[in-house]
Parts: sequence; structure tokens; C-alpha cells
Amino acid sequence: MPTLRLRLAALAGALLAARLARRFWPAPGGTAPSDTTRSPSAFPYGLTAALLLASAVIALAAVGWRSWQSQAQAAAVAKALTRGDPSRAPALITKYGCGGCHTIPGAPGADGKVAGPLGGMRARVYVGGVARHDADTLIRWIVAPQSISPRSAMPVTGISEGEARDVAAFLYTR
Ligand code: HEC
Repeated sequence: MPTLRLRLAALAGALLAARLARRFWPAPGGTAPSDTTRSPSAFPYGLTAALLLASAVIALAAVGWRSWQSQAQAAAVAKALTRGDPSRAPALITKYGCGGCHTIPGAPGADGKVAGPLGGMRARVYVGGVARHDADTLIRWIVAPQSISPRSAMPVTGISEGEARDVAAFLYTR
């Protein structure tokens, strides 16, 4: 995931800046602790360290903002496609036992191995391996899988269509 990589890079930058700050920040006597050969006024180590720290903080903030923005965007798209509310889904996934059969990224306790994992559903071309994927088909599958694939082993869980919209919205953000 690129945002994770960016975040790690920014963290590494911050750690490096902190290390440099420790190394170069002038001691109370005016000399950098590990660099006693230089005169204290030769180079503003403290300023350099402060600038490095400031840029690391800015980089971290920018990365945080970017990842928040892309998450908000994914949620908005998911809501528009399904007319569901992804924030209600984790409780529904527990209530209807989806997580007992499916591993669902981001849903607490949903680590089932009975059927396939449900990450990346938005990019799928087929639902259940038989029907062309769109949001309405996905929602219909969640409510009544046999209406799409009569021999599917997935049970009718009793989830309502409105609740299935919430779960579908959640799946589209994963
Ligand atoms: C008893 C096990 C079981 C339960 C409980 C269950 N499923 Fe399934 N599910 C399956 C099986 C089996 C399939 C079809 C084979 C597959 O895709 O792995 C399937 C397929 C699916 C698919 C299509 C996946 C794809 O790759 O196209 C979705 C979406 C899905 N389930 C969502 C849910 C949701 C949401 C719930 C809870 C309301 C749920 N399932 C509960 C067993 C289960």
C-alpha cells in the first residue's frame, strides 16, 4: 500500500532527524557533544537540527492528511455506489456471522477461512464467480446468494437489504 510506504519513509526521516539533533545539538558549553573539534560558532547545528525536525513533522502531517483524504474519498464513493453506511457494517458482520466464514480486512474478528476473503471487492469483475459485478448484484448476493447462484454454499443469513447496503459499502472501502 503506497500510503503505508510513505508513512514508513516519513517515520524513518523523523527518526534520522532526531538522531542528528542528538548528535549535533550544542552541549551547554557550546560545543556539539560528539564533535568537539569544531568551534561552536562554525555551524549552527541547533538550527540545522531544528529545520530537519520541522521538515520531518511537516512530511508526517502531509502523509497523514493524504491518507485521511484518500480514506474519506473511498468512503464517499462507497456510499454513493451502495446508498449504505460503512460505519454500521462491523456490527452487522458480527451479528450475521459473515466473519465466521469470510476473512474481511478491517472487520474485527472476521477471520473465517470457510469461504474466500472479501478484500478488494470493488475491483471484482464477478460476484460469487457467476454474476457480473455491480453494487446491486453484490447487495442481492449478500441478502440471497441462491437468487444468483442456486448451488452456492453460502446460507441466507437473514440480513435485510438495507443492512446489506451498509455491508457492501464497507466492503467497497476495503
Ligand atoms: C456458512 C458460511 C458463510 C457465511 C456465514 C457467509 N458466507 Fe458469504 N460466501 C460463502 C460461500 C461458500 C461463498 C461462495 C464461495 C466463495 O466466494 O468463497 C460466499 C460468497 C460470498 C460473496 C461473494 C464473494 C466473491 O468472491 O465473489 C460475498 C460478497 C459474501 N459471501 C458476503 C457475505 C456476507 C456479507 C455475509 C454475512 C451477511 C456472508 N457472506 C456470510 C459462505 C458464507
